[in-house]
Amino acid sequence: MLERTYPLARKALFRLEAERAHNWSLRALRAADRCGILQALAGEPPQSEEIRCMGLTFPNRLGLAAGLDKEGNSIDAFGRLGFGFIEIGTITPKPQGGNPTPRLFRLPEHEAIINRMGFNNPGIEEGVRNVESSTTFKGRVGFNIGKNKDTPNEHAVDDYLLCLKSAWPVADYIAVNLSSPNTPGLRALQDATAAAHLLERLQAERADLSDQTGRTVPLAIKVAPDLDDEEICALGQIFLDHSLDAIIATNTTIDRADIKAEPLAKEAGGLSGAPLGKRSTKVIEAFHQAVGGKIPIIGVGGIMSPSDAQAKIEAGATLLQLYSGFIYHGPRLIRKILSAGPENP
Ligand SMILES: Cc1cc2nc3c(=O)[nH]c(=O)nc-3n(C[C@H](O)[C@H](O)[C@H](O)COP(=O)(O)O)c2cc1C
Repeated sequence: MLERTYPLARKALFRLEAERAHNWSLRALRAADRCGILQALAGEPPQSEEIRCMGLTFPNRLGLAAGLDKEGNSIDAFGRLGFGFIEIGTITPKPQGGNPTPRLFRLPEHEAIINRMGFNNPGIEEGVRNVESSTTFKGRVGFNIGKNKDTPNEHAVDDYLLCLKSAWPVADYIAVNLSSPNTPGLRALQDATAAAHLLERLQAERADLSDQTGRTVPLAIKVAPDLDDEEICALGQIFLDHSLDAIIATNTTIDRADIKAEPLAKEAGGLSGAPLGKRSTKVIEAFHQAVGGKIPIIGVGGIMSPSDAQAKIEAGATLLQLYSGFIYHGPRLIRKILSAGPENP
């Protein structure tokens, strides 16, 4: 039912300014979930096999990518739609408003989005409270963490450590975002020396937290699609040396080669959706080779159909995430991917 009504809803939503449509949709989804309508409309998610990754069991391999539920206050609603895991955030230690608007642009002819949101989020404490108050979602919740805009890169590690500690009691996994193009200097933390230093500190803190709490929370790093082969090889080795639990590949791209003729291509920010698909699959393949298949990969970037999902799996991804595909195709895409399964796209 929900799947059949989405094309109509999308028509109406796409008439609204993109960020207004986003905020309105989240409010509507939450309200529909609270009063039981969403459950009736969405029905039962398709049966799919559980999957093990990062030492955890996931109800299925398809998750919601970071950035859609930045605050973590819509987890139950997204869960109803069939996602097996939801990555909230990016969340920073302090709340921050993000970049000036407009900062979100739809490119419907390309099934793409450009955003320069700049980590608008309510801060880690509220994120934790929101996750604690989710009640019905049975899947896994990841915390995607970042640094505040006014924290200089030499102190970035303190922001990540603070978020790690705060999220520890409630997160199923932590994703360290080193790849947003919209926080000045963030991507420099993907440099081999900086990444090694960051990982060393984070792993030491995780060991302490495990000792104190008796629980362990896997650590993932989210990478950019704009890394070259040499950078991927160097990072892969560092990830192996520091026993990283997963690589999330990829974030949005700053490259505009595939949308040159598009007037909005000049907008600053990260490009996602269909034009990102092949590039992100290549990066998944390159990381898979660089780590010899020893670190699982969460594949994200331009999954607009079950065959795109299959391509990511063939490139080496264990889990998958959607953002833009969900905006363009709605809940139907979740079902199509889940019912296609890994071998039958
Ligand atoms: C509007 C918007 C906001 C995003 N915000 C974040 C974010 O806060 N943190 C993050 O790690 N990724 C963020 N992303 C990137 C997505 O999680 C995803 O990696 C990227 O969009 C590629 O997937 P897609 O092609 O399915 O959209 C954002 C993407 C969009 C479109």
